[in-house]
Amino acid sequence: MHHFHYQNGELYCEGVPVKAIAARVGTPFYLYSAATLSHHYRVFDGAFAGFPHIVCFAVKANGNLAILRLLARQGAGADIVSGGELHRALQAGVDPGKIVYSGVGKRPQEIRDALRAGILLFNMESSQELEAINRVAGRLGKKAPVALRINPDIDAQTHPYISTGLKKNKFGINIDQALEDYRRARELPHLEVLGVACHIGSQITEVSPFVEALERLKELIARLQDLGIAIRYLDLGGGLGIRYDQEEPPHPHEYGGKIVEKLRDLKVTLILEPGRVLVGNAGILVTKVLYTKESGVKHFIIVDAGMNDLARPSLYGSYHGVWPVVKKARPRVKASLVGPICESGDFLAKDRQMPAFAPGELVAVMSAGAYGFSMSSNYNARPRVAEILVQDQEFYVIRKRETYRQLIWGESIPESLK
Ligand code: LLP
Repeated sequence: MHHFHYQNGELYCEGVPVKAIAARVGTPFYLYSAATLSHHYRVFDGAFAGFPHIVCFAVKANGNLAILRLLARQGAGADIVSGGELHRALQAGVDPGKIVYSGVGKRPQEIRDALRAGILLFNMESSQELEAINRVAGRLGKKAPVALRINPDIDAQTHPYISTGLKKNKFGINIDQALEDYRRARELPHLEVLGVACHIGSQITEVSPFVEALERLKELIARLQDLGIAIRYLDLGGGLGIRYDQEEPPHPHEYGGKIVEKLRDLKVTLILEPGRVLVGNAGILVTKVLYTKESGVKHFIIVDAGMNDLARPSLYGSYHGVWPVVKKARPRVKASLVGPICESGDFLAKDRQMPAFAPGELVAVMSAGAYGFSMSSNYNARPRVAEILVQDQEFYVIRKRETYRQLIWGESIPESLK
């Protein structure tokens, strides 16, 4: 469910016409609906009602401060993977007591900052990381709250680039080696072992891989209990998929219901790290048609947003719906929606039936709220686009379009070249 809909043939975000926003801020821009975000958060959180849990939004999906604040206000924590994401989360007012820190390559300085902030849990991903966190915590005279991120060796049946729970992936600690690492972690004086974590992948459209992963973690928890290691937090990661095209992902209630059912006999607090399912369908990318052309074999619609603004189609071949901002009676054509970047892989939609858009028209690229802006870059020296949030009939610029000055910020020409 989202709040992008047509009224008299015009696309609205909640009560605000998209066309009016474009007229004020120019194109391209990301546009988010606060009502959609809140709704998604409430539904997701509600799916675990009655079981102790913390929803830690995966900041990598969308780290804008306004988005983080909106979710934090509703009670969300944050799943971070870098010092930069920690900074964002804290600046946005996320409760440090609800921050979990995942990622295979945490640097000593990042570990230190997170310890100082007083985060809830470090999800450690290797034996060497145990030692590193112990060392940094020792220097600060603290005990680091930790979980071991386990690689349960589960096939999440998703795109290979976003599947993370297989042995061949770089993530987590091999489940067969976990007991040994837990024993070691228990001996380290500056670690407090509190949890078990996993994250098996992203855009997962079945519940079964989650349930399978959970079963493996439960077995591990039982074995840890035998060793006298009591687990207080079970972090099941993120990964629940959304509908981009024809996918039929489980409703959060089905997902939550099946997970909670398996947890009834455990005295743990469940941690979830959803990203995409909260923001994906709460955002779109609005772009303008510059030109159209026929190559003889193909029809191209060239727009002012490219793969630097939305990388997913180029990177994963992902599907994003393409909607007109103003509907018109006209034929549909088989076309590719491409950007201005000098790469053949620069497309937002490829060889697809779509309205025969004309120059000057506005186009909405749908389901772009997750891993859209956050993966955007300055490639081809393109300033990153503006981000807009609609809330209560108003729209707010929550990130200004970058300027040329910002593009070269920090660069300098050495004396020898002057
Ligand atoms: N927790 C951890 C440890 C993660 O690595 C991720 C995502 C999440 C949570 C959130 O997963 P979600 O609920 O959003 O599926 N750029 C790719 C997705 C990469 C996901 C990386 N990890 C894309 O655009 O599809």
